[in-house]
Amino acid sequence: MDINRIQNLKNQAISNILEAKSEEELEHLRVHYIGRKGEITELIKKLPSLEGENRKEIGILLNDAKRAIGETLQQAQGKLQITQEPLDKEWLDITTPGKKPSHGHLHLITDAIREISEIFEKIGFTRVAYPEVEWDWYAFEGLNMPKNHPARDEWETFFIQGLSSKKYGEAVLTPHTSSGQLREMEKTKPPIRMLNIAKCYRRQAGVSHAPMFYQFETLVVDRGINIAHLKGTLDYFARQYFGPNRKTRIRPFHFQFTEPSFEVDVTCIVCGGKGCRVCKQGWLELGGAGMVHPQVLKNGEIDPEKYTGFASGFGLERVLMMKYGIDDIRLLFSGDLRFLKQF
Ligand code: FA5
Repeated sequence: MDINRIQNLKNQAISNILEAKSEEELEHLRVHYIGRKGEITELIKKLPSLEGENRKEIGILLNDAKRAIGETLQQAQGKLQITQEPLDKEWLDITTPGKKPSHGHLHLITDAIREISEIFEKIGFTRVAYPEVEWDWYAFEGLNMPKNHPARDEWETFFIQGLSSKKYGEAVLTPHTSSGQLREMEKTKPPIRMLNIAKCYRRQAGVSHAPMFYQFETLVVDRGINIAHLKGTLDYFARQYFGPNRKTRIRPFHFQFTEPSFEVDVTCIVCGGKGCRVCKQGWLELGGAGMVHPQVLKNGEIDPEKYTGFASGFGLERVLMMKYGIDDIRLLFSGDLRFLKQF
């Protein structure tokens, strides 16, 4: 079989295809060259009877010609379809109004972080950020909760396996923003007005508890700081965030790192403080607070004889839920647009 003949056949087929003016003509060419009894097909059929070394070479050439003719046919068909599409089938009404892209908005939690930051920044607090993967010392030991102290149980902590420091102990996912108190005292000397908003982690889940949630922590350390400063700051926050008629109250409580310690309540958003099924006799709990324990000041290398301070730590999702009457914390993390679009 002549190699030149195969090449010529292929070239001739391709040039015929490129000149074809109709789909019928293309179909005719397909049958002629690569159809069941087409010229190339017939040559391929003869391959087994060929002898000698160039059988393989001719086989490759014939298959290549068949593939090239097939591809050129396909391309030519595509081109014919485009050019033959009647213009009157295409229709464009340039007066039709365009589709408006739907507008998204920031997530409620991001909004709350920004709003709370602004409220505290107005009265001189500085927003800080400290590690989420924290040493035991900052989360517990330095806050008067030595190893095996029962108070630690409240924090239902995730420990990180295989990561520890001789000086600072084991590594944890920080269970509260109070670890930032010691970090701040190490970094900044009084006067301190810190706002630490960060993710916290606890082994808890339910309608009011999430394994990952946000807290916002205040820390003020200066000469002569007392409970009146704490109460005034909490009232200011409640009025700014929840509305002008909100009040806070502090109830005695116990934290290892504050003395005295309190739990902080705000007047109920639903009943305005009269008492309803959402609240405890007109009050809703915001979080914990207290005067910084002298030992914690010492651990932060601040002299408790000269300085005093207060701290508070609230759940960010909880204050958000109180503001909007959201009754399940999981909605905030669900990413469900039906919920998010309401805000
Ligand atoms: C603390 O975490 C203290 N560090 C607060 C504090 C700071 C006291 C400074 C004194 C001085 P507590 O464990 O109660 O306290 O948590 C504070 C708030 O965080 C709770 O009232 C709640 O609003 C929120 N919170 C706690 N655990 C979760 C959780 N799993 N999911 C959502 N919110 C939570």
